[in-house]
Amino acid sequence: MDLAGRTALITGASSGIGRATAIELARRGVRVKVTGRDRGALEEVGAVTGGELLVADLADVEQVDRLAQWADPVDIVVNNAGLGWAGPLSAIELCRAEEMVRVNLLAPIRLTGLLLPGMIERHRGHVVNVASIAGHLGVGWEAVYSATKAALITLSDSVRMEVRASGIGVSVVSPGPVKTAFFDRSGHTYEQRFPRMVSPERVAKVVAGAIRFNRAEVFVPRWLAFPAWLHGAWPALYRRMAARSG
Ligand SMILES: NC(=O)c1ccc[n+]([C@@H]2O[C@H](COP(=O)([O-])OP(=O)(O)OC[C@H]3O[C@@H](n4cnc5c(N)ncnc54)[C@H](OP(=O)(O)O)[C@@H]3O)[C@@H](O)[C@H]2O)c1
Repeated sequence: MDLAGRTALITGASSGIGRATAIELARRGVRVKVTGRDRGALEEVGAVTGGELLVADLADVEQVDRLAQWADPVDIVVNNAGLGWAGPLSAIELCRAEEMVRVNLLAPIRLTGLLLPGMIERHRGHVVNVASIAGHLGVGWEAVYSATKAALITLSDSVRMEVRASGIGVSVVSPGPVKTAFFDRSGHTYEQRFPRMVSPERVAKVVAGAIRFNRAEVFVPRWLAFPAWLHGAWPALYRRMAARSG
């Protein structure tokens, strides 16, 4: 899809990857519609990109519906808003698990479901779901988060099959650790030296490329495709290696 002149809705645009994606798409001539909960941060992104904004809490399905009504029509939807939580499964509060399912999974389901019919009618559109390497591999102490992202990946594969004939593309972008507020908000700091953190701007460029060239699945950094492949192709070996490396 040629990006210039298109319209894109970006969720979670008030911070991190979403903010960088809004700026990257605007730089490429896309008219952006940005959303998040933090009005001040959104206004700043709106000023930088010249985009429109709507404050919405994606954990609330009525606000998701209102967001879809406000955004329609769009050519591109970037389902990026998300949150994590780190700790043993037995310690997670049910309300936090529910919030993650609502924001990371239910909101993309609803938002995409509401915006796809218009795209199909216009025979033009692209959906990007920002997942995570955690959704491909399953990460310890991030079980619920990993599960929401795994579901988002499978959702994307299914929807891609449904809309392929209508000329709509669906991309899954799966980053490893990214230098954003995500870890602080998840209640832990990223202390591993490997994999190294990448910048949100790098992920934003990958998102733009995925739309431009209709890439079904992209990893950032790219080598993360290897553990994901190994996990699927040779799970016993993957488990042995993961147990050894931690
Ligand atoms: N950072 C990483 O290492 C990493 C790795 C892999 C995947 N990801 C994924 O990348 C996406 C973006 O994360 P990030 O790293 O950019 O983190 P971030 O800086 O914390 O940004 C998260 C965004 O999601 C929005 N959000 C969270 N809860 C929301 C809610 N209830 N309603 C509406 N918006 C909500 C936030 O908006 P407000 O602040 O306005 O509430 C914020 O704009 C997430 O889906 C995350 O799972 C991140």
